[in-house]
Amino acid sequence: AIGPVKKICCIGAGYVGGPTMAMIAHQCHDIEVKVVDINAERIAQWNSDELPIYEPGLDDIVKGRRGQNLIFTTEVDEAIREADMIFISVNTPTKTFGVGAGRAANLEFIEKCARKIAEVSVGHKIVVEKSTLPVRTAEAVKAILAEATSGATFDVLSNPEFLAEGTAIDDLLAPDRVLIGGESEAAIQALVDVYAQWVPAERLLTTNLWSSELSKLTANAFLAQRVSSINSISALCEATEADVDEVAMAIGMDSRIGPKFLKSSVGFGGSCFQKDILNLVYLCEYFGLPEVADYWQQVVTMNDYQKRRFVHRMVRTMFNTVSDKKIAIWGFAFKKDTNDTRESAAIYVCRDLLLEKARLSIYDPQVTKAQIVANLEAVFQNGDQELSAVSRQLIENNVEVVSDAETAADSAHAIAVLTEWDEFANADFAKILQRMKKPAFVFDGRNTLKGLNLEDIGFDYQGIGFSR
Ligand code: UDX
Ligand code: UDX
Ligand code: ADP
Repeated sequence: AIGPVKKICCIGAGYVGGPTMAMIAHQCHDIEVKVVDINAERIAQWNSDELPIYEPGLDDIVKGRRGQNLIFTTEVDEAIREADMIFISVNTPTKTFGVGAGRAANLEFIEKCARKIAEVSVGHKIVVEKSTLPVRTAEAVKAILAEATSGATFDVLSNPEFLAEGTAIDDLLAPDRVLIGGESEAAIQALVDVYAQWVPAERLLTTNLWSSELSKLTANAFLAQRVSSINSISALCEATEADVDEVAMAIGMDSRIGPKFLKSSVGFGGSCFQKDILNLVYLCEYFGLPEVADYWQQVVTMNDYQKRRFVHRMVRTMFNTVSDKKIAIWGFAFKKDTNDTRESAAIYVCRDLLLEKARLSIYDPQVTKAQIVANLEAVFQNGDQELSAVSRQLIENNVEVVSDAETAADSAHAIAVLTEWDEFANADFAKILQRMKKPAFVFDGRNTLKGLNLEDIGFDYQGIGFSR
């Protein structure tokens, strides 16, 4: 029989595991939650004043429960052995090698977790897939667990996380829905009972395992598709004097379409959208559905086009050359209110500007210089073993990272806004204009400065999806 959950172990202290477990500990004081990771430095950060991820509201929740019923530790085996429920929340990056390279998910870390659980478990455990996974991964997890030699028994659930970065705490506090897929009613009920402590019953949705796994990929594919759809229209708007924000407003009032996720931008980023769509595409091909694969591939193709198009427009507008021009890059994170830069459009825009021989002065309120340089090195390295000397020089000689937006714009020919940080709208634009080269261009990849009418004070202002 499966009793109420008393001890939880979460494997993986990342962007998903950390905040989700902090919320469970915050809501369920009678459950002991241990978050484990093989990365000792990350665990040390979770135990310090400076948490490894920036997320509004996270600090208070972690510091409120840490050391009580929320424990961060590297003692993986012990935490697994003690727990009655184990969440797997490790990373599932796109494979960079071998079969399916560039598209399939790398399930190495998931499989290692399953093997570890099989090895050290005793008694009965409920194993919960929290990471985003290809549909039918649970089959592999079950097969590995079935080989446990200790006589331990397992139920496997899929419980994908839908939180968005930057709003993780709000999303966890009041989720649109919590999705739980499984085969054993009792195991499903045990996890339902955990969430029921703060999530209303009508938002707790249970399905079969495979629907749950596939729903996560599908949700991300639909969300990304909306961004690519509106971005495709932004290109047409620039050619026709339509304004993409007006179009988005007009279509969003149709209740069948809805107003959210229609913000045109320099391109979507983040750890999930591209990875999950490529994974969906790979799965469709695997199951012999090339038309479906092609349909979804187009969402990524359009996003790549949007990023390239932004740089082309900058170069064209600046008299067809940005060579040796200083360009201020405002924002490097993939969206505001996060320090995460995975797949950020800024990485690709900066790469293309560097290839045009521009000089970049980058400012982001939450991203460190080390992170920015690492991202740029990786994109130039492009999966190769080593960064070429030429690329290293290009980055070293042409990239500076500064600590405020005004300094970045000092003596610059242009400002490129790549993340919609609120503080950018509060900059002293009259002062900035004085100190920039003329004509002073602003290329707003987020339309965050659109309402400021910067052209009235003397800027050449260009945003996404409109022409003035
Ligand atoms: C459509 C638009 O809805 C309407 O706003 C516009 O003015 C004219 O075009 P209409 O073609 O009359 O209206 O019907 P609609 O309800 O949109 O359905 C169009 C087709 O899509 C139908 O064949 C319908 O069966 C199909 N459909 C619609 C689906 O297959 N699935 C759905 O979820 C919705
Ligand atoms: C996404 C999903 O929203 C979340 O449910 C899932 O669990 C993980 O993936 P996340 O990547 O954290 O979350 O952020 P999201 O807010 O979805 O933004 C993704 C990217 O799309 C960002 O680069 C954002 O700037 C961009 N975006 C989003 C737009 O360009 N326009 C929009 O209208 C919305
Ligand atoms: P996500 O965005 O999915 O949370 P992250 O990369 O932020 O992904 O976090 C995943 C975490 O999982 C990393 O901190 C990594 O060290 C950890 N991890 C990966 N494999 C294992 C493993 N076998 N055991 C414990 N932790 C692991």
